[in-house]
Amino acid sequence: MKLFVDSGNLEDIAGLVPLGIVDGVTTNPSLLAKAGGDPRAILKAICDTVKGPVSAEVVATDVHGMIREGRELAGIDEHIVVKVPFGKPGVQACGTLAGEGLRVNVTLVFSATQALLAAKAGATFVSPFVGRLDDIATPGMELISQIVDIYENYEFGTEVLVASVRGPVHIVEAGRLGADVCTCPPAVIEALFKHPLTDIGLAKFLSDWEEAQAAKV
Ligand code: E4P
Repeated sequence: MKLFVDSGNLEDIAGLVPLGIVDGVTTNPSLLAKAGGDPRAILKAICDTVKGPVSAEVVATDVHGMIREGRELAGIDEHIVVKVPFGKPGVQACGTLAGEGLRVNVTLVFSATQALLAAKAGATFVSPFVGRLDDIATPGMELISQIVDIYENYEFGTEVLVASVRGPVHIVEAGRLGADVCTCPPAVIEALFKHPLTDIGLAKFLSDWEEAQAAKV
């Protein structure tokens, strides 16, 4: 399963890349607004740092605007994946941009039928938002299970990108269901490294070693 960082913060992303576990990045207008600065320059710097797929979202809401903006975003760097919100304009723009050889991530997906339409439009990635479904008492991971089943039945090439991830349990469940990608906020990736028994075990190894060395003196 690929791991993407869900962030527009270059410093956070650059801190994770050397670990060798980051396959790509997803941004959205909220994340880039939070980062401040020039969004195009930030996207370019993220691409140079990650050298993997970097989703950049259009803010136009009509088909022609989405297509025009998608082409502009794709011109920033070869690693850019154009992100379009689900809906009739998004699905139509996805078909056009994919037909031109651009990679498209269809975002704000909350149902299996939306995911089916995104795949039919030639999306490279589909982004179901599990955390936001959980927030309204609807099991987000159940949607991932449905989409994985449907895509397998018809051998769609679209990758299931689990988005709106809130914690490690979402990642474990995504892996068990065979999702292709999880995009996670930096804090969630940090949490994947932590286990109290690892810390206790390491402290014991080191104290036993030091004790043995002191006994030799
Ligand atoms: C994914 O591409 C989205 O940017 C993101 O996962 C949304 O997450 P949120 O629900 O925490 O805002």
